[in-house]
Formats: sequence, structure tokens, C-alpha cells
Amino acid sequence: MAVQISENGRLFTLHTRNSSYQMYADPFGTLLHLYYGKRTDGENLSDLILRTDMGFAGNPPQAGSDRTYSLDYLPQELPSSGVGDYRDDCVRIRHSDGSCAAQFLFDSFQVTEGSYSIPGMPALYDTAKEAGQTLTITLREACSDVRVQLLYGVFEQSDIITRALKVVNAGKTPIVLEKALSMSMDILFGDYDMIFFAGRHAMERTLCRLPVKRAGVHIGSVRGTSSHHYNPSLVLCSPQADEDAGDCYGFCLAYSGDFTASAQQDQRGTTRVQAGIHPDRFSFRLEPGESFPTPQAILSYSSCGLSALSQNYHRILREHMCRGPWKHERRPVLINNWEATYFDFDKDKLLSIASQAAKLGIEMLVLDDGWFGKRNDDNSGLGDWFVNTEKLGGALGALSEEIHCMGMKFGLWFEPEMISEDSDLYRAHPDWALTIPGREPNRGRNQLVLDMANPEVRSYLLERMTDILSHAQIDYVKWDMNRSICDAYSSYLGPERTGEVCHRYVLGVYDLMECFLSRFPGVLLEGCSGGGGRFDAAMLYYSPQIWCSDNTDAVNRLSIQYGTSFFYPVSAVGAHVSACPNHQTGRSVPFRTRGDVAMAGSFGYELDLNQVSEEEKEQVKEQIEAFRHFYSLTHEGDYYRLTEPGKGDFMAWEFVDENREHAMLTIVQTESFGNPIPIHTDVKGLDPAKKYRCLMNGAVRSGASWMGAGLTPNRILKQYESLVIEFAREP
Ligand code: GLA
Repeated sequence: MAVQISENGRLFTLHTRNSSYQMYADPFGTLLHLYYGKRTDGENLSDLILRTDMGFAGNPPQAGSDRTYSLDYLPQELPSSGVGDYRDDCVRIRHSDGSCAAQFLFDSFQVTEGSYSIPGMPALYDTAKEAGQTLTITLREACSDVRVQLLYGVFEQSDIITRALKVVNAGKTPIVLEKALSMSMDILFGDYDMIFFAGRHAMERTLCRLPVKRAGVHIGSVRGTSSHHYNPSLVLCSPQADEDAGDCYGFCLAYSGDFTASAQQDQRGTTRVQAGIHPDRFSFRLEPGESFPTPQAILSYSSCGLSALSQNYHRILREHMCRGPWKHERRPVLINNWEATYFDFDKDKLLSIASQAAKLGIEMLVLDDGWFGKRNDDNSGLGDWFVNTEKLGGALGALSEEIHCMGMKFGLWFEPEMISEDSDLYRAHPDWALTIPGREPNRGRNQLVLDMANPEVRSYLLERMTDILSHAQIDYVKWDMNRSICDAYSSYLGPERTGEVCHRYVLGVYDLMECFLSRFPGVLLEGCSGGGGRFDAAMLYYSPQIWCSDNTDAVNRLSIQYGTSFFYPVSAVGAHVSACPNHQTGRSVPFRTRGDVAMAGSFGYELDLNQVSEEEKEQVKEQIEAFRHFYSLTHEGDYYRLTEPGKGDFMAWEFVDENREHAMLTIVQTESFGNPIPIHTDVKGLDPAKKYRCLMNGAVRSGASWMGAGLTPNRILKQYESLVIEFAREP
């Protein structure tokens, strides 16, 4: 039983294969959080809480004269707000009388088969292999007619618990939500580190690890997207935890807009961890009868380190978030013309890249920015989604047909959410851009942002995209978004609903993507936001792969892809071989290494094949063959990080297939010295009792021996050289 209810419907224990999560509605009606950790038998753990008079910790009216009962230290599933819990709140309500207070009391519960969905937003869904169970606990606000439904989804086999909540205004007057996070959880005991992923454009998701103390660790985005700067995910783990051992909790928010995530210790050492929509720039008015659902937070617990935690996320996101035919079908090896040509292309140039590509086994040409409107640089044209037939020497249909005749698929770049002031669209509809009346707008990449909350804007975009896709053979769309959002004012929503703009923008993007995919269900969507500025779990619901970074330097990619791998499956990571010296860093890395690094992703090329040597062309062929050979490992296997960026002289990672028959281990030498000392790497994930042959040197040993003793490569690698080592289980 994934959801266990006992003690007269007041004790709730959620069980997954390896974890349990317990809550208890105490006699005063507070829903206490008792436990999340290693699987238990579901006995009531409320005696873990020792009630004491903490002083300066007020007592709710229900407690009468009992000074030991205080919301200020009790671990709560939904903390109260403004009534004596002085820690960060989770749901903040401004009532129609101007007061801002909420105490949430247990009301009722319901268990349903199947996982829950969230209107207008992505959420993990059921599959034939595994369906979730849902527990809904309804809390009532003590002094108003506001109800909050706490939603828990349990994917027992996958070791995943999801959380979301819905605020319902069941009263007769409007309320304003000033904060509505997806989850708050109080971990009673223990010291934790918080691991999070910070960065900047072209250098996303660098791992940061800080101890959580009284000062707390807070991350978030107020950029309108989940952002390059902080990813909407975090790990809380014991200070000793590493890849193979230690308690780790994962929290991954399925949301693509402004978010906050934090962990902080309170006066008793309890760690409050929270995640949800960022409360800055947010308020949401609920009329009587209306409700507000939050995005979903995806939780997982591992008692055996970070690799197992990551693997839980890889599996659940691959199987229960990614959708459509490309979820399992092998994705085409693509070539994108962006770094090959930037805006400077014509039909002949594209066809010459395509014909070279076709000869080498590349399966799709992606035409990037610059094919539409007046768009020969990034100062104009966004919004004018009409083919520039002059530049393309004819219709897009004709070009796409020529590409198909070469035996390749054809993909196209769009940046639907943006508008250039120098565009016909802006001249016709200046009010469609997010700008504040009376204030000159801030530009980013010299462009403005369309008001995705406005249904008219969305129907224009859908109509334009439909028209383009209906007149050409388009198999793939790269959906880009190239600036952060400010001036968040929507003339469609008006002055009363300014606090809703950023969230409704995100809902508008989801709606447009959903409508687009329902019209073109076979199209492979690749998400993008200046590389990985919107690399989040929610986007995977629409695009099973996301361009990981505008930085294609294979060495920088080692740390970017390393950070990305903590929550996101390798199948989601768009990664390309590009030209050297690299356009972002000026570094030169062997062609083979560029391929081996990109192979830990959804693989492709982004360079002018007319400029590469014959030897490199041969390597392209070999890389494509290798990518196909290893596809089920890289795209469906278990992933192991074997090293950390910045520690040691090389980076290494490994894939092992589900049946533990086949493994692939990649090493990239990142530093080199005179008189080099041989390197040595761990080997993980094999079946200890089975024999494996290492194809590098033919050695046959048991999984236990390989994993115990590790592996020494049979040659010294020069700086930036790579080595791929395959293991095959002996019959
Ligand atoms: C963004 C993307 C790039 C490319 C350009 C085109 O920066 O991340 O891959 O598509 O836009 O303008």
C-alpha cells in the first residue's frame, strides 16, 4: 500500500520502495510533518517531537494555556502564516478586510488511484508500467472560508513523491494570494548541506554546495524563466554524503518561471525546505469560488548517495514527464547551421552543409535563426513569422523537400515569445509587448517580450506556426527564448492583475506549446533559452530535449553537463560537436573528444562540414556509429558520475544498461603534466557476480573485481584527449 492511513484517518504514511513520508493531524488540527527518510513500517512517530516552552514562541488559541504548543517550532506540512510561526511561510493570504493571516487546520482526506494532474501545468503522469496513487488532504483556514488541498502523488516503484497544493476561495469575498509555494517541509533532525546549481548564460548549472545553518541558503529566479542563474532544483544531503553513500533528499520544481527554493535551520535545528513560485512580482486575486493550483514539486530520497538519487530523477522524468513519440524513439543526429553561418546563409550554403552531412550519416538539418521576416542580425524581425523567400531562394517547402530528398529530416528555429520593435508585428500591435505605460521598456538582445498571457497573442503565434509547418516538411522545432523578463506589465490583464503577469506568462507558454503539439504531435521539440536558461522538468513535458548551453566548448561542457546530470536525464541534454577554436572560449579540443562529450547528450553537430578535414569527416562517421551503438545506454541506462569538476586531472562518467549487460565509461583528460602519472578510475553499476570483458584491454573480471579495483587506462592521455571504454557481460 503506497498510501497508508491509520489512527482514525489522522496518520498518513506514504511509502515508496525505499522511503517513507509521514504526517499526522494532531488533536489541535495541525498537520505535522513527522518523517521523510528510509522506509519504515508506518508506526506513529509523533513522539519524535518533544514539546517544550521555547519562550517568545507564541501559542495558538487551540492550545489554551499550554505554553509548550507553538507553531513557531512544530514541523508542519503547511506552515501557518502571520499567526505565530515566525519562519518562512508557504501560503500567504490577504483577506478582503486587509488582514494577512492564515492558520491551516486538518479537515479531511481522500485517497485516489492514479496520479493527479494540474490544470494548465505539467505534472508527472501514469504509464502502463507504473501508475501513481494520490492522497489529497484538505485543510481549512481557521477564520475564513479558504481551503487548501495538499496533493501528494506516490510513485512507489520509482521512489518518488510529488507535492502540489491548491488554494480554494470557498468564501463570499475575494482574497489575494501573496505567496503560494508548492511545498514546505520541516526536517526535524540533522545537519544538511544544500547542493544547488548556479551559473550564467553560457556557463549554466555549476554545482554549489553549502551547509544549511541558521542563515539558510536561498536561491531563485525573478527573470520570468527558470534561468541560467539558478536551476529550480536542490539536494539536501548529510555533510558526508557523496555519490555512493549518505542521506540525500531531492526537490525538483516542475516550473519554468520565477521560482524560489530554500533551506534554513530554525531555532531548534529543524530544517525548513521550501520550493515554489517566487513571491516577488507575484500576487493572485481569487474571486469567490475560484482556486489557484501551484506547480508540482518532485521529491525523492536516497539513503545511498547522490548517484542513486539522480537515477531516480532520470527515470521518472524520462518515463513520466517526457511525452510523445520521441520519448523512446531514437532521436535523429542533427546538424544545426547556427555556429556554421550565424545569420549569413542562403539556400546554396544550407544545401552544401546538408549534402555533406547526408554523406556522413547525419540525419537532420536544423535551420536556425534568420529565415523569416527582416532578420539578418538580432535587431529586427522577431514576431514576423513569414518565410524570407528571397534569402531562402524560394519557399521553405521547396528547401525542406530538397533536404528530405537527400534522405534527411528538416528542423526549424522559432522564438515565438519575442517581438522586435523593428517588426511589422510591433508596428501593428505595440500593446502586445510587455511594457509599463509611461516607461521606456528595457531591451534584452534588443528585443521585447510578447504578452503570453494574452490569448490573442497566442492565437496569432499558433496561426503563424501552423501556417509555416503546414507548408513545409518540418520534423523538428527548436523553441527558443532569448531574454529575461522585466517591465512585467500586461495591458491585457490591466493594472489590477499586475502580480499575475509572470505566472500567467508561463501558463500562456505551456498553453501555446500544448496547442502546437496537439496540432503537430509528431514534431520533435527542442527547448532552448539562450542555451539552458529554461532547462527545467516542466519543459520536458513538451520538449524531450533542451539545448543545454550556448557554450559548446567540450571542456566547459564537462562541468555544465555534470551539473545538469543531477536531476535531468542525458536524453534531455542537447549537445553538439562544434568548430575549434571554440567560438565561446577560443579553446581547441580534439574532434574525437568533442564527439565523446556530446555523446553524453542528444547528439548533433553545429559547424560547417565544408571546413572540416577528411580525417575529421571519417570521425563524424565513426561518432555517429558509436552514438547509435551506445544509444540505449546513454538514453535509457543508468548514469554514474565518477569524478567532480575541478578535482583531479580528468573527468569520467559511466553508463550501464538496465540489465547490467553493457557499460560505457568515458574519460577526458583535463590537465596534463610532464612525466605524467597514469590515471585510475572507479567502475560502477556492474553486477558483482557476473563476469565482464573490458574491450579496452580484453581483461575479463567479475563485476565485483572491476568495481573493487577500478580501472587504469592502457595509455597516457594528452590534455583534452578522451577515451571511451566499453564493458560487455560474458555470456
Ligand atoms: C540562442 C540559442 C542559439 C541560437 C541563437 C539564435 O542564443 O541558444 O542556439 O539559436 O539563439 O539567435
